[in-house]
Amino acid sequence: MEFFDSHAHYNDEKFEQDRNELIKKIYSEGITKIINAGYSLQSSKQAVEIAKNYNFMYTTAGISPNDIDDFKIEDLSEIENLARNEKVVAIGEIGLDYHWNTENKELQKEVFISQIEIANKLNLPIVIHTREAIYDTLDILKNKIKCIKKGVFHCCPLNVDLVREGLKIGFYISFAGPITFKNSKNADEIIKMVPLDRILIETDSPYLSPEPLRGKRNDSRNVKYMAQKIADIKEITLEEIAKATYNNAKNIFKIK
Ligand code: NI
Repeated sequence: MEFFDSHAHYNDEKFEQDRNELIKKIYSEGITKIINAGYSLQSSKQAVEIAKNYNFMYTTAGISPNDIDDFKIEDLSEIENLARNEKVVAIGEIGLDYHWNTENKELQKEVFISQIEIANKLNLPIVIHTREAIYDTLDILKNKIKCIKKGVFHCCPLNVDLVREGLKIGFYISFAGPITFKNSKNADEIIKMVPLDRILIETDSPYLSPEPLRGKRNDSRNVKYMAQKIADIKEITLEEIAKATYNNAKNIFKIK
């Protein structure tokens, strides 16, 4: 059985000590495709450099709403140039975050929209980070700018409105560790809402380890816990989930 971890950060310093050995081990345990996600200009460059070492690893390039403090307008053209690299399969993670940042909402929206423009120009999908900003995120996607290649709600917040509207506009829903948490009250309901052909799974490593590993450093092998949870709720086999999520990720990111 093979798995696709659609979102991880092997550019994080928590992997500094054992990155290469760990990535090889992960691959040997059946995680045979990984998206290494950027979240700032620097981390996106690093993501590409790391991915060059592995033919099964791809990346996103983008500036997240939590990384626009020292953002310069020129960074956008650098992201665009970087995204022309063959390893980059999406613009992301980009979006809005009103949990960590409430003082710069207008700037967040501008940078989000500008990066959707880059995605459209390069014919790439987007990977969205949205936190406590669901309605503004949907407003941009539905009313402000059309995403030509659509995209993914990464670590999708377990919110009924977001999932319903996100599916309606053609986006994929990527489930991470929180669906396994004992306190995530509506995870089952949300999983049931998403058809099998629109689900991705991810770890968001090194963060957000699933039950029963919460608090430990996360890595892509744990994507199996998300797959098992979805299989249980949808009453299908782990194989079926592995296969569907693998194909979905290949489709949205145009990976052969
Ligand atoms: Ni992330």
